[in-house]
Amino acid sequence: MKINDQMAALVNAQVNEEFHAAHLYLAMSFQMANEGYDGFAHWFLQQYHEEIEHALEMAQYLQARSGQPQLTGVAEMPQHFGTPLELFEAAYKHECHVTEQIHKIYKHALDTSDYATSSFFKKYIDEQVEEEDSVLAIIDHLRMAGDKGIYLVNAQLGKR
Ligand code: FEO
Repeated sequence: MKINDQMAALVNAQVNEEFHAAHLYLAMSFQMANEGYDGFAHWFLQQYHEEIEHALEMAQYLQARSGQPQLTGVAEMPQHFGTPLELFEAAYKHECHVTEQIHKIYKHALDTSDYATSSFFKKYIDEQVEEEDSVLAIIDHLRMAGDKGIYLVNAQLGKR
């Protein structure tokens, strides 16, 4: 069954949100690489790939429901986001924002009896719990490590 226009617009907005998140993490990866934090740069680069994967999966879902994804512009990103701890705090805040958006889509799908869309997005609700949890764990490690231990956390994240 063809997806209705309002639902398609919400899914499409999320496709663009995921690309936006990908670029945000890529910009953070570039900053970390520039400052010699190869492990953090690697972690953010992996995150970039994950977000691209989410965007493409959502776009493919829209296509499977006879919708056509529409890409919006790529926002310019800053070159400096702060200290490594501040980067991960910003990433956590961004993931909370993504969670809210996913919940809105899921709720709208249920409210309009679009069970295919609610079923598809269920996986992202679970995924967001994991994403928030993993970023929070890194924030905890960075706070515990302080300035002296930061390279240990950096080395650890390089193994992701
Ligand atoms: Fe695709 Fe990190 O949310």
